[in-house]
Amino acid sequence: MIETLKNTRNLPDSALQELLESPSAALAQELKDTAREVCLKVKGPEVLIRALIEWSNVCRNDCLYCGIRRSRADVPRYSLSPEEILQCCGAAWRDGVPTFVLQGGENPAAAEGLVPIVRTIRERFPSAAITLSLGELPFELYAALKEAGANRYLLRHETANPEHYARLHPAGMRLETRLACIRELKRLGYETGMGMMVGSPGQTTRNLIEDLRLMQEIGPHMIGIGPFIPQDGTPFENCPAGSAETTLRLIAIMRLMFPDANIPATTALATLLPGGKQAGIQAGANVIMNVYTPLKERKKYDLYKGKTDV
Ligand code: 5AD
Repeated sequence: MIETLKNTRNLPDSALQELLESPSAALAQELKDTAREVCLKVKGPEVLIRALIEWSNVCRNDCLYCGIRRSRADVPRYSLSPEEILQCCGAAWRDGVPTFVLQGGENPAAAEGLVPIVRTIRERFPSAAITLSLGELPFELYAALKEAGANRYLLRHETANPEHYARLHPAGMRLETRLACIRELKRLGYETGMGMMVGSPGQTTRNLIEDLRLMQEIGPHMIGIGPFIPQDGTPFENCPAGSAETTLRLIAIMRLMFPDANIPATTALATLLPGGKQAGIQAGANVIMNVYTPLKERKKYDLYKGKTDV
């Protein structure tokens, strides 16, 4: 099985299903070891560090899983000032972390205000990579942010299945719109990231295989996945969390299917599994995202319960 894995990017659905569901710890270990080997060969031994700057938790959306969804009135809202954002970038730069990830709730008006800030970051840190994660925005704004100096954009598709998408999101949000944004980001020349939660309510193994197939079709440069973790005060607060083990197996599968992709061992994985970041790396991930959000605001960016901030 594993020999086939190493030599093909095109595993049949049946093999993917077996790798995701097999009770065999030996098979799972072999999968992760193979992925780690491929990662070392293709990406080299370095683990890349990114500086995550959660710049605002103001969001127009009401995604059923998310801790900063609009209708959570008990969440104090904040947005960092331009000076604070620049300070975060400076702190990351001094730490030797020259990739800044500006993430925030979906808020097109506020995102417009980021254009001059991105321009300033680009001027002050010409060689840094500027990654944005700001949700669905008008295409002109994606272009303006790119022109101002942003290079990368993370926009998880969340699930490749339209019915499942509808179950996770309020009426009005559509998978088709999300995918049009992802395709446009690629077209504009952004290094583009996709991804999904593992074990979100109603998700099946079939859905995960659909996610992999969709990503094969679109070809993301980065793939971020993490287990679903219920957050209090959301419609899914009593749903069970996703599986850390399945997340690790998926990381390994993705490394084999997308050898060149940058794949983080995410905070959600570390939140659910002690040592999760190391476990992610050992399963084929090559990126760690460290939080640089100012301490006074960190607690307000609780996408899910118990989110660690290391
Ligand atoms: N559990 C795990 N991940 C979540 N995200 C949002 N809410 C949760 C949750 N409850 C993820 C989504 C989003 C990213 C920023 O955080 O996949 O794209």
